[in-house]
Amino acid sequence: MVVNYDRLFSKRSKLLKSSEIRELLKLTQSDDFISLGGGLPNPQAFPVDIIRECINKIFESNILNALQYGTTEGLSLLRRVIAERMKKEKNIDCEMHDIIITSGAQQALSFVAFNFLDAGDTYMTSAPTYLGAIQAFHAYEANCEAIPLNHDGINIDALRRNLKRLHRTGIIPKFYYTVATFQNPSGETISLENRKALLELASEYDFLIVEDDPYGDLIFEGDPIPPIKSLDKKGRVIYISSFSKILAPGFRLAWVIASEEVLNKFTLTKQSMDLCTNVFSQYVAYEYIKGGYLDRHIKHIRELYKHKRDVMLQALEEYFPEGVKWTVPKGGMFLWVTLPKYINTRLMFKKALAKKVAYVVGDAFYPDGSNYNSMRLNFSYSDDEVIREGIKRLADVIKEEMASSADKETYYAEGV
Ligand SMILES: Cc1ncc(COP(=O)(O)O)c(C=O)c1O
Repeated sequence: MVVNYDRLFSKRSKLLKSSEIRELLKLTQSDDFISLGGGLPNPQAFPVDIIRECINKIFESNILNALQYGTTEGLSLLRRVIAERMKKEKNIDCEMHDIIITSGAQQALSFVAFNFLDAGDTYMTSAPTYLGAIQAFHAYEANCEAIPLNHDGINIDALRRNLKRLHRTGIIPKFYYTVATFQNPSGETISLENRKALLELASEYDFLIVEDDPYGDLIFEGDPIPPIKSLDKKGRVIYISSFSKILAPGFRLAWVIASEEVLNKFTLTKQSMDLCTNVFSQYVAYEYIKGGYLDRHIKHIRELYKHKRDVMLQALEEYFPEGVKWTVPKGGMFLWVTLPKYINTRLMFKKALAKKVAYVVGDAFYPDGSNYNSMRLNFSYSDDEVIREGIKRLADVIKEEMASSADKETYYAEGV
């Protein structure tokens, strides 16, 4: 008898969607294809020799522990050095017991969803926002209130208006999710003033802030803006950061700083999901921080990514036609391109694939799929010449699309 999976899969499992974009990006694996779509660190930025040294040290002193199961909260040695670094570099008041280690920031996002979202609950975020967070929250049947982002990383007035409107109807959101610094996808950063305003709103309306911060260390210019968590005296912020962009994503290591109540729940969730995070990776990260390599490496990747951003910005100036705008991020790995309103980047995507260049369609980062004339470009991954050639190909696609759009007055309906 044939297995009837449709009857067997849970309702929740049926809500999981494969990302259409990720599927399309798989087509871009061939050698002559240029993908400006992925969100990958540059492989040249992997500190291979340092990692080898760290592993040698583990073999000399800790190999038996590194091969054993670990505690669910994570390796104490690692949590302690992270706490020291968070205090020193980010001004976050925390100790080892305020931190748990997770298998990537993505796992922490699924813990947020599991522990805070029941069907029909409401959470808030910006539009656009990180695609992986939309995916993690989607399966829990929550409603999303997405507030359009502006150049300050958050539209605080629109957020205030929406909170008032929701409040009138008896809806109090559970949390506001934000990538406050060098956002994926837009590259925008929330100002200090708006970080404070967001915390005040969280206190007034009693919701949590989920601050996802994988890019804060990748700063190219200007003064760093303190994480929202560093301003939080009441345990309202769940802070998530990751080793993926400052060491290597293959280690699948991230950490969460939150109140005792939240960490207890996350620890129980983790026990049932994977028992503990990869112990060997945790020892590598510990040796990496303790040896003083992390700070040195961050300095190196800041320079590398600043250079790559500048290569992309220069190519955009040179090749992109008039009428196309883009953000100039002061850090991170992405910039956001806005095309004239009569262009639909989803419809244009197949034409880009035909010219062997790819981007991520902007609507993927909108929880309701609205917005159709934008795209995310990644500048960290490719070699300089590849970035220039990719932008040149993309410029040709855009110019052709602009020329062939006969009716420039007709805008696509949102969500097309
Ligand atoms: C904003 C954001 N959060 C979370 C993640 C997932 O990170 P990790 O590799 O630590 O799971 C990413 C990955 O690109 C990201 O951009």
